[in-house]
Amino acid sequence: MNAAHHALVPRRVRFDLSRTPLHWIPHDPDASYVMNSIHLLLPAGEFWFCRVYNRALPFVTDPTLRDDVQGFVRQEAIHARSHQTALNEYLRRHGVEIDSVLRVADFVFGQALEETPLRLGNNFITRRLEKRLEKWRLRQRLAIIAAVEHYTCVLGKWVLEADALNAPNIDPDLLDLFRWHGAEEVEHRCVAHDLHAHLGGTTLERQGWAVVGFPLLLALLAYSGKHLMAQDPAVGGRFFFGRWARASRRGTLPKLESLFGAALRYLDPGYHPADEASLQEALAYFGKSPAVQAALARERERQAA
Ligand SMILES: [Fe+2]
Ligand SMILES: [Fe+2]
Repeated sequence: MNAAHHALVPRRVRFDLSRTPLHWIPHDPDASYVMNSIHLLLPAGEFWFCRVYNRALPFVTDPTLRDDVQGFVRQEAIHARSHQTALNEYLRRHGVEIDSVLRVADFVFGQALEETPLRLGNNFITRRLEKRLEKWRLRQRLAIIAAVEHYTCVLGKWVLEADALNAPNIDPDLLDLFRWHGAEEVEHRCVAHDLHAHLGGTTLERQGWAVVGFPLLLALLAYSGKHLMAQDPAVGGRFFFGRWARASRRGTLPKLESLFGAALRYLDPGYHPADEASLQEALAYFGKSPAVQAALARERERQAA
């Protein structure tokens, strides 16, 4: 194994959001809802990543990449479970209806993007054709995941660096959940891109799925965010992107033009996620994250017992 290689480890964090207010960024319901709308879509998407990667694993011939893929799956599974338990409970406790958004997310990631068996026939030629097509279809899913992971890295870097989120009255537990997740997205930012390339993925595939995927991702986010905002009479379910732009001027959300710029960078044939963010910045956050430090203390106690 390469001496400079950074091993991906799962961090068994726990979050208690029982005291977290609905507008967890005070006086900024726009930013609170936009961030919560991202959370609602994550578990279905991240569990889908894990299923696709487990199917891709037998095709990985590089032992370092194999370790990375396994580390990635362990991290994403913990992300999905953390959002599913802590965040869904927190929103339901505040009387927010979330099941319609969860159903849409389950449909997109659990059905529309799920692999269905081809069953072309049972002779030598159809079996060979089926095998080739299955690998091709798997590679397309890996390209979609690589495009999504580009954005989770961009958003992860933003959430780590956003000065406006350092204000003292922001809910510390939910902020830590966001920043721990963001830091792990930065930490494993290269895996999806490298896995797609390792299985023969082309730049054109990567770019093509990004062109299709980015607008769809924004549409899903807008649906989720509007659904949450519409339930709050003080906010209302209209002008999702206008509200996003307003919050970004306060620094509590990333600027929409910066996300557009990130899409253009991704389309560059020379793009590699290693250039998008710094591993050191992610590691520095783990050193001060209350949830990560508590998880490490529990692990030390478990080993000492
Ligand atoms: Fe994640
Ligand atoms: Fe990720």
